[in-house]
Amino acid sequence: MQTRGHKADFAHFLIESGEQLLSLLWPAADARRAASLEIIARTAYTAEESACHYLETIGLDQSGAIRKTLELARRQDSNEQTHEDIFSRDLGGLSLWIDRFVARHVAVLVYWIFALTTLLDHELASLLGEAVEAEAVKTYRRMLLEQPEGWLQQPVTPIATAYWRKEGNMWAARDEREPETLRDVIELIARDELDHVAANSQKAIAF
Ligand SMILES: [Fe+2]
Ligand SMILES: [Fe+2]
Repeated sequence: MQTRGHKADFAHFLIESGEQLLSLLWPAADARRAASLEIIARTAYTAEESACHYLETIGLDQSGAIRKTLELARRQDSNEQTHEDIFSRDLGGLSLWIDRFVARHVAVLVYWIFALTTLLDHELASLLGEAVEAEAVKTYRRMLLEQPEGWLQQPVTPIATAYWRKEGNMWAARDEREPETLRDVIELIARDELDHVAANSQKAIAF
């Protein structure tokens, strides 16, 4: 966690507890775990976007901070969607029925938790989001260390290449070099998650 303080510690404790529970089903830092956790993480941004739209609609965005947060959440959502698609579609991370069942049900629950928390206490919602991203960084660092070299050295996947070519993608914005192997892609994703930690920490003080 980048943010310090009791509220940040509380948010991290909640997310770490939930993550430990999910680790019973997805202990290895592989495509199954990544695909499932990405659905859950992406849904948190979708919920934040919906709630920010609502707050804007009822006229609470006096300073423009809610609109700014909404647009940032939108960019994060599309970046997370790419992560999800790489691990689920390109790498088959959701091929087991049990993974799809648990990931999708938890994601629906997460949607409502994040939507309501954003409406009631946006700072707490952002801190919970920051904690999710801090856990994501750990997953991808583990993936780079624990997955077989043959798997990591496979060529870059189609969805990663399509994202690289997409206008306004986060990788080009950071001036990254084009990924050639899956290892390159995972390193880029780990840096995306670090960006999300920093962005959510800033969002916590936005409004
Ligand atoms: Fe992600
Ligand atoms: Fe993320």
